[in-house]
Amino acid sequence: MNTVIEQFTPFATPIFTIQYGDQKIIKSHTKLKDKALSLEKEDDGRTISNEGGFQSNEFTMKDTLAHDFFHDILPVIHQYTSVFQLAYNHDTMLNNLWYNVNRKNNFNYAHTHGGSNYSGIYYLSVPENSGKLVFNNPDTMIKNLTFYGQPMKTFNEYNSTQFNVIPKEKLLVLFPSHIEHYVEPNKSDEPRISIAFNIIIQKEKL
Ligand SMILES: [Fe+2]
Repeated sequence: MNTVIEQFTPFATPIFTIQYGDQKIIKSHTKLKDKALSLEKEDDGRTISNEGGFQSNEFTMKDTLAHDFFHDILPVIHQYTSVFQLAYNHDTMLNNLWYNVNRKNNFNYAHTHGGSNYSGIYYLSVPENSGKLVFNNPDTMIKNLTFYGQPMKTFNEYNSTQFNVIPKEKLLVLFPSHIEHYVEPNKSDEPRISIAFNIIIQKEKL
C-alpha cells in the first residue's frame, strides 16, 4: 500500500513584481519622476518611515497624475487581488499615493501601511546600490529562533525570515499592507526615486 503524504502551505504572503518597460508601459513615467523631484525642491514633505530623504504629502484620485498612474496599473492590481478570491462585488480604490526620494545614506525604517488592504511601490529611478526593499516574515516568532539563522541550502517559503526585492526602474511591487518592510540605505550618489501607494477594497453596497 502506498503511503499518501499530503503537504499543505496554509498561510502565505503574495508579493507580485511586474516589470514595466517594453510591452506594458506607464505612460506618465517621466512626468511622475519630474514631479517627485520638483516636490522635493518646493515642499518639506513629511517624516513617516524615512530617515532623511524626502517623502511627499499624499495625493488621491483627484490628482491627474495619480489618477492616470492608477489607471495604468489597474489590470495588474486586479490580477493580484484575484489571488485573494473575494466573493463579493467590490471596487478597488486608490486610497493615497506619495513620492519618495532617498538620497545618499537615506533609508526607511521597518513599517507597515495601516488602514489599507494592499500596497504598492513603483520605481521611477534606481541607481546601483541604492538599497533593496526587504519584507519581514509576518510569522514574527521566526526571527527569535536560532534554528532559522542556521545555513540553508536555499531559501524558500519554509525557512526565510526575510524576502528581498531588488528594485529596478519601472518595476512595480504589490504586497499586503500589513506586511512589515524596510528600505536599505542608498549607497549611491544618485537619488532613488519611487512612488508608494495604498489600495482599499470597498464592498459594493446592494
Ligand atoms: Fe512602505
